[in-house]
Amino acid sequence: MVLVSGRGSNLRALLTTAAIERWDAELGAKVVAVISSRADAEALDVARAHGVPVHILPHGEFGSRAAFDEALTRTIERYPSALIVLAGFMRVLTPEFVRRHAGRLINVHPSLLPSFPGLNTHQRALDAGVRVHGATVHFVSDEVDAGPIIAQAAVAVHADDDRATLAARVLQQEHRLLPRSVRHVLEGRVRCVERRAVLKDIARGELSVLA
Ligand code: GRF
Repeated sequence: MVLVSGRGSNLRALLTTAAIERWDAELGAKVVAVISSRADAEALDVARAHGVPVHILPHGEFGSRAAFDEALTRTIERYPSALIVLAGFMRVLTPEFVRRHAGRLINVHPSLLPSFPGLNTHQRALDAGVRVHGATVHFVSDEVDAGPIIAQAAVAVHADDDRATLAARVLQQEHRLLPRSVRHVLEGRVRCVERRAVLKDIARGELSVLA
């Protein structure tokens, strides 16, 4: 199950990788459905083009965060799904939702956490003058953009970067990192021990990328 709000490039990377690597045959896994918090998300076209069922839950139509999250859970539970992947899902989830789905909620975030949680990460990285920036895939905890880290990719920040060039360099890494992380979690090679994700039999460089 994949949750989206916007462009859907990470969703596309996931669907494409799943098709190339034959996840259906090899892992018995597929993207069962896509839920969008926005009716105009381009990600919906990506899902439809791959024949994946879509559900639209416009967050503005719900009276409260809790009501939205309940509708989300009801929709999620219509499908058998081992994992719930937040791929550009721009809603903060309630602690109840996070607790209910703990251990199977994964998010991709465009920074090297714990630096730059929240929004506008690329501009903030430029403003801070960091030389290295990147992306993180992590299990979701009830703190925003925190939770056990599964994978990270680091990219160099160039002297002439602006927000767009830096975002594009990071996004390229997200597209590799997210499908790999999902695959490893589905294979049972990632375990949470206390507040850390521990990896088993994963080649060096698979989930810690220095691009
Ligand atoms: C990505 O940068 C992701 O890390 C962040 O939102 C963006 C979504 O992009 N959470 P897309 O919709 O996958 O193209």
